[in-house]
Amino acid sequence: MMPMVYLDHSATTPLDPEVLQAMMPYLTDEFGNASSVYGLGQRARQAIDQARDEVAAYYGVTAKEVIFTSGGTEGDNFAFQGIAQRNAERGRHVITSTIEHDAVLRSADALEQGGFEVTRLPVDRYGLVDPADLGRALRRDTILVSIMHANNEIGTIEPIHELVAITRERSTAYFHTDAVQSTGKIPTHVDELGVDLLSMSAHKLHGPKGVGCLVVRSGVRLLPQMLGGGHERNRRAGTENVAGIVGLAKAIGIAHRDMVKNTAHLTGLRDRLIEGVLGRIPGAELTGHPVNRLPHHASFLFDGVEGESLADLLHPEDKLGGLRAVRKAAGASARTATGAIGCLCQASQSASTACSITLAAWCSQSAGRAARSGQRLAHCASTTRSPGARPAPLIST
Ligand SMILES: Cc1ncc(COP(=O)(O)O)c(C=O)c1O
Repeated sequence: MMPMVYLDHSATTPLDPEVLQAMMPYLTDEFGNASSVYGLGQRARQAIDQARDEVAAYYGVTAKEVIFTSGGTEGDNFAFQGIAQRNAERGRHVITSTIEHDAVLRSADALEQGGFEVTRLPVDRYGLVDPADLGRALRRDTILVSIMHANNEIGTIEPIHELVAITRERSTAYFHTDAVQSTGKIPTHVDELGVDLLSMSAHKLHGPKGVGCLVVRSGVRLLPQMLGGGHERNRRAGTENVAGIVGLAKAIGIAHRDMVKNTAHLTGLRDRLIEGVLGRIPGAELTGHPVNRLPHHASFLFDGVEGESLADLLHPEDKLGGLRAVRKAAGASARTATGAIGCLCQASQSASTACSITLAAWCSQSAGRAARSGQRLAHCASTTRSPGARPAPLIST
């Protein structure tokens, strides 16, 4: 069997061996509880402190502005619930967009059920939120705006700086961004973005699963959601995931160190892949922004292709493992980014399939492999489109 070519790095990433190495002592001999006063515990405390300093330096914030969490979902939930509960007397209006991750969309739904008003901003055909739309939606009683930094399905990078600027101009609302997909891929300096809160997750950048952080600028009024001990300065109770936190900091450090090099490499691969897919699959359309998109992210709509058939063709051989194919993704009923932009795309009629391909630099994906993946995809897509027709040739190299 051919080795799998994993192309779903927006879903999760393999652990970097360097990260595992950094974590190992805290999974074995250095197993102390960071709240214990004796040596074993204090060494765990020091490891957390150092990790917090490194994460804070990456985001350009102070160490006390970093709260470690169990990942992106918790960070998003914490931001919504924590801000809403602590600031309800100032207002009960929240703004988000239609293309957020479920961790945000469902947090917004929960607030709505609790009596808050939620405005969900539409996006254009590239998945961009228009700052003018945000400007019109802001009110005196808006307490939170939450717009993701980069989208997981279509790779579009939102104009966070402009969105924050208009929020500041027209309201006193806090601004939260879900930076789960952007951290380690593009600059996420918090001062430059201008946000008050930012959530991230380690497993999207070759760190461990089940750990992340919420950056909360000082002065932001946020109610803790996890109650118990005084961990994380009384803001998030629970014995710290020492190995996970150390792994998170290491993964961020590596991503930061290699960002310029990786961006150049991945952008080249991505563009070659996009060119190959668009050139070979009739009716294929690039989704997301053509330029303002994550460097490792390519996404498409295939007109007239059944997602399930495409997935069946791709998966058994495991050649394009993890490739996301969503049946009838252009159907606007689905609460997905593709659903939100679907009706604005040309390939939105009948059955169409959304597919995102997300690369990674460190696992030696060569330009040749990316091109072959595009060819494989083209072959499968053409096979599923018209059962009687000759499929596009699968060129093996
Ligand atoms: C944009 C975005 N936000 C939040 C999450 C949730 O993160 P986690 O898996 O760490 O809970 C994800 C995960 O896919 C994501 O892509």
